[in-house]
Formats: sequence, structure tokens, C-alpha cells
Amino acid sequence: MLVFDQVNYHYRREHPIIQDVSFEVQEGEFVAIVGGNGSGKSTLAKLINGLLLPRKGQVRLNQLNTLQHVDLKKIREQVGLVFQNPEDQFITTTVLDEVVFGLENLRIPREEMMPRVEGALQAVRMEDYLDAMPHQLSGGEKQRVAIAAILAMRPSILVFDEATSMLDPQERKDILEVMRTLHQSGLTIIHITHHMDEILSADRVLLLSNGSIRFDGTPSALFNSVSLTDQLVPPFAVRLHQTLGLDVPLGSDWKETITNLWSMH
Ligand SMILES: Nc1ncnc2c1ncn2[C@@H]1O[C@H](COP(=O)(O)OP(=O)(O)OP(=O)(O)O)[C@@H](O)[C@H]1O
Ligand SMILES: [Mg+2]
Repeated sequence: MLVFDQVNYHYRREHPIIQDVSFEVQEGEFVAIVGGNGSGKSTLAKLINGLLLPRKGQVRLNQLNTLQHVDLKKIREQVGLVFQNPEDQFITTTVLDEVVFGLENLRIPREEMMPRVEGALQAVRMEDYLDAMPHQLSGGEKQRVAIAAILAMRPSILVFDEATSMLDPQERKDILEVMRTLHQSGLTIIHITHHMDEILSADRVLLLSNGSIRFDGTPSALFNSVSLTDQLVPPFAVRLHQTLGLDVPLGSDWKETITNLWSMH
């Protein structure tokens, strides 16, 4: 379990970014985090894996605590961060080396490496690209390689920080599909996004505003709440659903719900 316990963070003392934030994420959950520009989402992501440390409060992962220096290595092994720009995440020249790199850092024995590399690339459907150069791949392929490099290290939590925002619609769909598959295989997924349609894949949504959690609940409950800001416009289908006043709860199969209702009228 991941626990934020009354966490505060600032870069500059006079400008608090995260204020008294507490929440828990259970193992195996799929949580979306949304919020306006500059609301502190990336800061929160970095607090999860100890890239940033709370100024007050604690971030714990099971028995580990990011404030304990000896725990940091284990925490970073367990929490994989996928960033917005896959280019920033590449260090080597081939897809194979890219995935091997992290394993070498973890001192994984040679004989264990290849099964891990192949498994990770298969999970993102990039197993045919071992010798490809990461920089020549499409945006979505790059992002999938970045995910494979993390998966090979066998994390228990994957944090995606706007990892789909530079991709075209089809590539976004592919990455979301990868997230869902990984979630089904037991990984905890934390998906930071400003695409409101993407949060419908999550079981739960946290809305971050001015450094505090303003909403914690299901995606459909968020869309039904009145306090959304202009930056967080629900997907068209949800607005249509609300406008029509249809008394049917929206779940992750919302597209189907809308299609069915629409064809009945
Ligand atoms: N290294 C830093 N030094 C000083 N201030 C920073 C630093 N990084 C972020 N900030 C500030 O902290 C606030 C929150 O930034 P953060 O990147 O966490 O927001 P975000 O919700 O991820 O935004 P975006 O939607 O643009 O990705 C912003 O006001 C930002 O300017
Ligand atoms: Mg950000």
C-alpha cells in the first residue's frame, strides 16, 4: 500500500505546492490523478518515488519510507515513473540496450536478463524491435520501450506522468491498452493526465487543485460533481449524457452505454 500522510512540499518556502495531502492507494488499484496546469501533479509523482522528499509528513510504501535514506533504493525499484517525453528517458542506442541498462544497474545476473527483457518487450508488443534505435521509433513506440525498460525491473507501481500527452489518438489508445493489461496482471497504476476521457479507464480519480486533493472517488462521480474547473471539461459523451439527464451510471464501458442509449432514441 502507498500512503501519503499529511504531506507538504514547496520548492520555495513562500510558495507551497503540496499542502497537507493524505491518501492511500491499495495494491492493484488503477488511480487517475487530474488537475490544472501547475497544480502539483508532477511534484506528487516525484514524491511517490522519493525523487522529492516531503518537507512535512511522510510518503510510505508498505514498510518503506522515502524519508529513510536506506529505503530509497528499494522504493525506486518498486515505483516506475514514465514521463511525458519518451526522448528524455533514453540513454542508449538500441531498444535491447535500453531495457538491459536498468537491469545492469540492478546487477541482475546475465542469465536472468534475457527472459526479463523479452517478457517486458512482449508486454508492450515491441519484441520485434530489439535492434531498432529508440530515436527512430514513433512517439507511441518510444513510450512503449520506455515502459518496457521499467517493467523489466519488475516494479509493483507504475506512475505515468502525462505519458500520453505527446501522442496521437491511436498511440494514446495503445498506451491506455498497455496500462489496462498491466493493471489486469496485478500492477498498481497511477495515471496522471489532463485528458478527461482517459480517466474512465481508472477505478478511482483524485483531483488535485491548489496543492490539495479536492475529489477522491469514481470517474462517474467526478463527472457528476459540480465543482469542475474550466480546465477539466468532461468528455463530450459524458456532457451529452448529463445534458440529456439520463439516469444511468457511467462506468468504464461508458462509450457502450452512450452508444446503446443513443441508438434507442
Ligand atoms: N524545480 C522547480 N523549482 C521551482 N518551482 C517549481 C519546480 N518544479 C515545479 N515548480 C512549480 O511548482 C508548481 C507545480 O508544478 P508541477 O510541475 O508539479 O505541476 P503540474 O500539475 O505537473 O503541471 P503541468 O500540468 O504543467 O504538468 C508550479 O507552480 C511550478 O512552477
Ligand atoms: Mg506535470
